[in-house]
Amino acid sequence: MTSDGSSITTAPSKEAELGSTTDNGAPAPSDRNSLTIGPDGPILLHDVHFLNQMAHFNRERVPERNVHAKGSGAFGEFVATEDVSAYTKAALFQQGTTTEMLARFSTVAGEQGSPDTWRDPRGFSLKFYTTEGNYDLVGNNTPVFFVRDTMKFPHFIRSQKRRGGNGLRDNNMQWDFWTLNPESAHQVTYLMGDRGIPKTYRHMNGYGSHTFLWVNAAGEKHWVKYHFHSDQGVEALSDADATRIAGEDADFHRRDLSESIAAGDFPSWTLSIQAMPYDDAKTYRINPFDLTKIWPHSDYPLIKVGTMTLNRNPDNFFAQIEQAAFEPSALVPGIGFSPDKMLLGRAFAYSDTHRYRIGANYLQLPVNRPRVEVNTYTQDGAMAYEHRQDDPVYAPNTFGRGYADNVGEVEESWETDGAMVRQAYTLRADDDDFSQAGALVRDVWDDEIRASFVKTVAGHLLGGVEGDVLERAFEYWRNVDADTAKQIEELVRADADLGGPGGQDDKAKEHASDPVVESDTH
Ligand code: HEM
Repeated sequence: MTSDGSSITTAPSKEAELGSTTDNGAPAPSDRNSLTIGPDGPILLHDVHFLNQMAHFNRERVPERNVHAKGSGAFGEFVATEDVSAYTKAALFQQGTTTEMLARFSTVAGEQGSPDTWRDPRGFSLKFYTTEGNYDLVGNNTPVFFVRDTMKFPHFIRSQKRRGGNGLRDNNMQWDFWTLNPESAHQVTYLMGDRGIPKTYRHMNGYGSHTFLWVNAAGEKHWVKYHFHSDQGVEALSDADATRIAGEDADFHRRDLSESIAAGDFPSWTLSIQAMPYDDAKTYRINPFDLTKIWPHSDYPLIKVGTMTLNRNPDNFFAQIEQAAFEPSALVPGIGFSPDKMLLGRAFAYSDTHRYRIGANYLQLPVNRPRVEVNTYTQDGAMAYEHRQDDPVYAPNTFGRGYADNVGEVEESWETDGAMVRQAYTLRADDDDFSQAGALVRDVWDDEIRASFVKTVAGHLLGGVEGDVLERAFEYWRNVDADTAKQIEELVRADADLGGPGGQDDKAKEHASDPVVESDTH
């Protein structure tokens, strides 16, 4: 019998030899017995070691991310193998440069413990620790998004999460939002298609999705889209497999990523860009800043940049993945924003949520800290760690630190003019909500993928979508493609038993891995 009353005896571990301490570093009085008056008496309030243990335990979690809460990550490196100096002067993209980086992959709507294999877009967040400061690219595994104005984002997310009353997710609410916002059609088609549930995080592509501005050393500008193509190939799960796996192993994708890296099987992705000459944007037939649209590769072909390889697992998930703070606002010289209204909204949203979720000094944590000297006047705040002793705390000053900025024209910029309005983008010749979605269904997919898609959509609609929302959903798909819409409607009206949440069969799995089916090329 041991002194805590249990019969368990343990061999002295390395820690035991070292001896545990209190949080302030003194020898810990006990990690098994609280301080009481006699063995059967009450616990004493001055058992400060117990109080510290309990109080810290009560504060072990930070709020989970409002979206993309369930995720997994790893460290690695990006090697710029090609010469793209004609497009950007950014140091990390200069040929021959190797940059350390962190990647985090995630689902969107599910909470921390939710299954990895639910049908949902996947986050594809990258943090590059460059010699010019951190560069974050916070993308998805899809090249487009559901909406094109930031103002709609909170509404969109609420419609995909849980109802206020019963706390349940609700297909009717999801389709209500989608059908009332028809610009979602392209992304919903993608999501319900053959790439909707990646087999693993290693088997999906990543996209910056937005249009970014790249500026070269001569000041020449291009609009750029990023494509990270999986070197493992693109593979997907059928609905049936995804549902089974969700029950058997909710952490299926996390386990796969971690175990592959631990086994030395390092996943990699090839980065290519599409580059549009600056002036083309003014006359291109599609608004190139509309996040619901892709640029056909026939107009802007892929240009290879380099390779990203993930080769190191986190050794502390909380410190390195949960507290990782990715933000589209982290840019470096040679890379800028575009007039994409979604991107500009995101420029604010992420740093703001990090201040709330992690704290004002989240950038001082090792995983987020730039690998270059940070020489900012920002100071103090909760958990401040970095400081500059008696260096001046204001600018300008007479102690060697005047204003060090560049005044005048801003390099990573574009010109704009006009009255202030609250208005959708001006429509161009080929701007509409449905034709790119229709092209995906008709021109990129084959009959088998289309058949799976019809079952997936019908299965989703049969999961509680009703009344006007259901009628609008049929209309939505008629606008995308009349033929598949008819089949969807027939299945739903027949109340077909589709065998699973989406009813998709194993064909999707075979086809997602087919190199001919490149859903982002249309
Ligand atoms: C996470 C906002 C659109 C990809 C988040 C988070 C917020 C947010 C608040 C949580 C961040 C955290 O707590 O660490 C927004 C807003 C958007 C938007 C306001 C629209 C204007 C997008 C788009 C993409 C995207 C278009 C992809 C192209 C991600 C990813 C994460 C994320 C990958 C997870 C970051 C991580 O791994 O830590 N978003 N988002 N978001 N968002 Fe967005």
